[in-house]
Amino acid sequence: MTAHAPSDTLMEDIVGLCKRRGFIFQSSEIYGGYNGFYDYGPLGVELRNNIKQAWWRDFVQCRDDIEGLDSSIIMHPKIWKASGHVDGFSDPMVDCKESKLRYRADQLFFAPVSVDGENIGYVSVVECIDQQEVAEKAAAEMKRKMAKQGELDIIELKEYTEAKPEQYELIPSPATGKPGSLTEPREFKLMFETKVGPLADDSAAAYLRPETAQGIFANYKNIVDTGRVKIPFGIAQIGKAFRNEITPRNFIFRSREFEQMEIEYFISPSADLKTLHREWIDTCTDWLVSIGLPREGISEDIHPEDKLAFYSQATTDLMFQFPHGEQELWGIACRSDYDLKQHQEHSGKSMTIFDETTKEKYVPHVIEPSLGVDRTLLAVLSAAYTEDEVPNDKGRVEKRILLKFSPKIAPIKVAVFPLLKNKPELVEVATKLYKKLQRRWNVFYDASGAIGRRYRRQDEIGTPFGITIDFDTIEKDGTITLRDRDTCEQRRVTEDELIKFLEEQIDG
Ligand code: GAP
Repeated sequence: MTAHAPSDTLMEDIVGLCKRRGFIFQSSEIYGGYNGFYDYGPLGVELRNNIKQAWWRDFVQCRDDIEGLDSSIIMHPKIWKASGHVDGFSDPMVDCKESKLRYRADQLFFAPVSVDGENIGYVSVVECIDQQEVAEKAAAEMKRKMAKQGELDIIELKEYTEAKPEQYELIPSPATGKPGSLTEPREFKLMFETKVGPLADDSAAAYLRPETAQGIFANYKNIVDTGRVKIPFGIAQIGKAFRNEITPRNFIFRSREFEQMEIEYFISPSADLKTLHREWIDTCTDWLVSIGLPREGISEDIHPEDKLAFYSQATTDLMFQFPHGEQELWGIACRSDYDLKQHQEHSGKSMTIFDETTKEKYVPHVIEPSLGVDRTLLAVLSAAYTEDEVPNDKGRVEKRILLKFSPKIAPIKVAVFPLLKNKPELVEVATKLYKKLQRRWNVFYDASGAIGRRYRRQDEIGTPFGITIDFDTIEKDGTITLRDRDTCEQRRVTEDELIKFLEEQIDG
């Protein structure tokens, strides 16, 4: 897979392919869609499950120091009070009173426009890859319309959160282009509220969880008391999370319902945090590479100390080169003993553990690697998306779209084709092999159309291997043709060689 340069057309191509081939649909599409929600179709759900299974296998089943958990989505509201979410989980938002559109203040940028040092107005732009260019064009247009002579000063974009109260009235709304309709930034609560039980008053208020992590902290005591865990150890969970994002966008990158794969890794307060944090950053990077992301597309964003929450000792985000630019994929945070101490205080239950090695009793500190399933899926799709040119059945070179998924996570692992569908001898052997492979892997059988077209259909959905049963198979030596999706190379193999090859490639 490749790291692509940011591009709007790549995102459009991916969204188009996902809909066309049944990976991802806009939720409630028949009613015009529902912003911030997505449905995964037959291929999308396979890809998603494969990503989750690979993560679970590598971080839970293959490690002796991490246990799994599946906690409920709706938990006691006191959990969210203790964690700080009830009072603090919000984003600053800005409304356009005229268009009724709502923006996140940290994703809205503005700049004064000056000609030879004289201010002639303001421009605004919503965060995008080419926001500087968009703002400069708008400034040039303003100068032209106002018939101003002279040189435009450099446009220096700032977040709307940095605007001064006297500037709110002067900054134009990105929706209307006119000043005077943007409000000052106001805190907007991100948790979805619901009611639990027969009463509809405030005492019944509950929340859909905005992260899976608190379910881990809330069960930490259960796992310590019932398991055989000893420091350092982790608890891992995969599950849905919900956030009423003000501006869900960039396809599944930021949605209102998404899934997280989170680990809380509990360590001694006197552990070498720097080394352990580094180990986690490297482990997480290697895992992304193991599912096929290009190492050169991954970078590290180390949060500066003055931007960290008061309880946090360090945070590094693994960034990925998404089609809409370099963005956070995986956050790896050192959260001290903050969460457990908060729950200890609010619940009155002790969160201490006895450390067998040092013979000390303490509330452990935690390192939290937190990854989004949907964001990983978008990263995988964008790195896998490839266009190249290959000869068709008649030898004419044609454009081809393919998804270069790693065999480990590809939705369909192998496609089985009888060369001709009207030759029962070929169909019989192909069906038998298909049924045999199907017991172990997700396999697809396709007998219709020219063989080149059948290959192309599988290339577009990322099936790494194609197997053709032809006349040599039934008349000569029983060997079959094995085709590689990326190189289009074909070679003849026996059935035993095929199975061994697939085991190596898919199961690793
Ligand atoms: N427990 C820590 C936590 O939730 P976060 O940075 O808010 O931290 C962790 O979220 C990860 O969850 C992100 O790195 C991202 O992969 C994913 N994520 C967060 N908000 C998301 C959203 N609205 N849509 C899709 N994925 C999201």
